[in-house]
Amino acid sequence: MHALAELIRDVPDFPRSGVMFRDVSPLLASAEGFARCIEALAAPWRDSGVQVVGGVEARGFIFGAALALHLGAGFVPLRKPGKLPPPVQAVDYQLEYGKDRLELRRDVLAPARRVLLVDDVLATGGTLCAAAELVAGAGATLLGAAVVIELDALGGRSRWAERGPLHSLLRY
Ligand code: PRP
Ligand code: HPA
Repeated sequence: MHALAELIRDVPDFPRSGVMFRDVSPLLASAEGFARCIEALAAPWRDSGVQVVGGVEARGFIFGAALALHLGAGFVPLRKPGKLPPPVQAVDYQLEYGKDRLELRRDVLAPARRVLLVDDVLATGGTLCAAAELVAGAGATLLGAAVVIELDALGGRSRWAERGPLHSLLRY
């Protein structure tokens, strides 16, 4: 049995020079590793009354959809621009390497729905904080966030701050 950390591939200088990219592909390709990962992501949230998992495009969709099924919750995609039909609300944010925008369907989260956000990686926290803003803007209740990998040096946890509990499986 592999430790989850053994299923993460380190790729230097991707997508640009100086960045060490933590690739979750080997983890996803391992039936046993993927199952254990979803089990571990779900563990802290079992009794939290999660009603909806919000997954961030693209890799957050993979972990988020599997986690939603595991927790008996629904799934809502938070998407990159131009992918969702209107009406959408949008938030712009800064990435480790560039800028982006996240969108959420305005009508898909009923007020007070209990939402858990999920992504593969927390780096600067820009993406997850933008997602939190969208959930709040929809009037839903943000329970917290679950990520597979947290990159400590990029400060995402302090940027996330008091938005709710933040659980990660692996820290670098
Ligand atoms: C990556 C990753 C997170 C985000 C983390 O996504 O999957 O969503 O960056 O970075 P942050 O904490 O600094 O915001 P990316 O934007 O590369 O998109 P992708 O999943 O579509 O490849
Ligand atoms: N891996 C995957 N996604 C990322 C990373 C990484 O190291 N950094 C920012 N987004």
